[in-house]
Amino acid sequence: MYDPRLKSLLKEILDDLEIGFDADFGIRLSTNFDAIYGLFERLYPDRDDLAIHIRTLVERLAAAYRQRSPVLKQMDIERESDYHWFLSEKLVGMMLYVDRFCGDLKNFKTKLSYFKDLGVNLVHLMPLLKCPRDNNDGGYAVSDFRKVNPELGTIEDIRDIADTFRKEGMCLMLDLAVNHTSDEHKWAKAALKGDPKYQAYYYMFDDRRIPDQFEASLPEVFPETAPGNFTNLKELDKWVMTVFHEYQWDLNYTNPEVFIEMLDNLLFLANQGIDVIRLDALAFLWKRIGTQSQNLEEAHLIIQAFKACAQVVAPGVLFLAEAIVAPNEIIGYFGHPKTVSNECDMAYNATLMTLLWESIATKNNKLLHASLNNIPAKPFGRTWLNYVRCHDDIGLGYEDLHASWAGYDARLHRKFVTDFLAGSISWSFARGAKFMEDRKNGDARISGSLASLAGLELALDKKDDTAIEMAIKRITMLNAVILSYGGIPIFYMGDEIGMTNDYSYLEDELRKDDNRWMHRPEMNWEREQLKTKKGTVENRIYKTLQHLVALRKSSPEFADHNNTVRVDCRNEHLFAFIRQRDGYRSFCVFNLNDHPELLYKDVLDGNGFETALGVRDRISGKVLNFLNYNVMMEPYQSFWISSI
Ligand code: GLC
Repeated sequence: MYDPRLKSLLKEILDDLEIGFDADFGIRLSTNFDAIYGLFERLYPDRDDLAIHIRTLVERLAAAYRQRSPVLKQMDIERESDYHWFLSEKLVGMMLYVDRFCGDLKNFKTKLSYFKDLGVNLVHLMPLLKCPRDNNDGGYAVSDFRKVNPELGTIEDIRDIADTFRKEGMCLMLDLAVNHTSDEHKWAKAALKGDPKYQAYYYMFDDRRIPDQFEASLPEVFPETAPGNFTNLKELDKWVMTVFHEYQWDLNYTNPEVFIEMLDNLLFLANQGIDVIRLDALAFLWKRIGTQSQNLEEAHLIIQAFKACAQVVAPGVLFLAEAIVAPNEIIGYFGHPKTVSNECDMAYNATLMTLLWESIATKNNKLLHASLNNIPAKPFGRTWLNYVRCHDDIGLGYEDLHASWAGYDARLHRKFVTDFLAGSISWSFARGAKFMEDRKNGDARISGSLASLAGLELALDKKDDTAIEMAIKRITMLNAVILSYGGIPIFYMGDEIGMTNDYSYLEDELRKDDNRWMHRPEMNWEREQLKTKKGTVENRIYKTLQHLVALRKSSPEFADHNNTVRVDCRNEHLFAFIRQRDGYRSFCVFNLNDHPELLYKDVLDGNGFETALGVRDRISGKVLNFLNYNVMMEPYQSFWISSI
């Protein structure tokens, strides 16, 4: 509804700013201003200085807009007229640590052909902003949001890479750790020196009274290595909130100045030419005593405010939600139904990822179905980032209720899956490790690379060709799922050639306590060479993946228009869904079992894939012979079936 107060406020600010009339900026600001102001009113209801903060905010927006290059402004306009461009089947991603992939950013620029060869055109460069050498949590403890780690390069290198990517039709994704800063950030340092302005940027307390109240309901993220959620600052005799590690200080978003400063950092990144900003740990943005301080309504309001502001300055830039929370909660980060998102455009599909690993352990679809069929659909126009492995641990984040609907005792089942993937069951093929085991309740998350969890490490050690074959099939099947399920698939660097766990982190003083480093290996360029040598493990994994990527990109039905319809094949070992769009249709089905399984003819017929007229598996290129009623799927086989 039109709010006449806002018109005069905005007019006053704009007149003072003397920015001249820029139609794009002016129109975007006017259409978002109501939302921005309303969000500020809700976030900061008790402040009488709201108008001052709003004025500063608009000044920052105008400054960032002025700094945005004409090329990026042009890209914004193009994306505004094709606002669902990122739902395309043509996008395929890879995430990597630059130093572990190729040393530094200069060298990275020479590696473009690596991505092109596989068909990857969205690259997530894992945290590379300046952070302390030792206490940095894999780069997620940032000490300067405007600089790159000097060993990797400079911000100019990033701009350069973004430019090249744009010319090549590729997209670049970078992180913004919005929830906290390193204790070596200049704000933290000023706070430590006693500056009250910067102390108010964090949650700081004189004694344990309030921290204890928070602790009563706050869970621990790293119970083994960083127990508790507050750190004592001896210099000040104060306590600061540190939900992650003691050197990661939680930003206090109840202070509007913090919002404005972090927005400025976000727009700075956007102006370097980044296409997707990964909002790290965004579920934690607001804290309240008596709650777990995750997924609170205000956290959503902050993201909405970030989004509304980014839409004014850089509407072509997308937000990715890194919200590894309960399935129902993840959906919330897509925002409310509107043409485009008012929160995040994409989110990690942690639910699917976890369920896929659960199904590797159980070889059946029971929990996959019980869970996926009972969580709300994501809103149209937003998309998943589908992944099998990333740099983090696997948390079994499905609902206990769904596990019980699948027929399991939720607690025992969780223990079984964890033990299976950690390899602590004698007959398990997986070689993972428990991460952050909670000694009180026995819960744990799991570390391990795709190849090791899928059985390749053990099979190679045993020199067991049959087991190697099975492991490769598992890897391929998991990749085939994420390449065809609605969303953008993203691989973790090294998985494309089956790199197994890297145990060298155990010799590294700074890393040995964090076993997530086992699945963040350094690229082994010698093994990488083997991908072109016929018959090697690397070759078999890579070539199949390359084939699947190319097929995905030539399947318009794989664009994500909320057109993934799961199908019950009446065989608990099969996972299947139909993708359909503009007359293109695929029936995607995966055998989760290490035994052959039957795919019934009537399931295809009943879903409009008339077997009598002929159907073909597009992966193998073979016509499927349903004349004998059913078709047998090999262990871990995938079909992408289309009518002939
Ligand atoms: C995110 C990152 C993770 C990090 C945490 C704290 O979850 O993915 O690696 O430890 O945030 O910044």
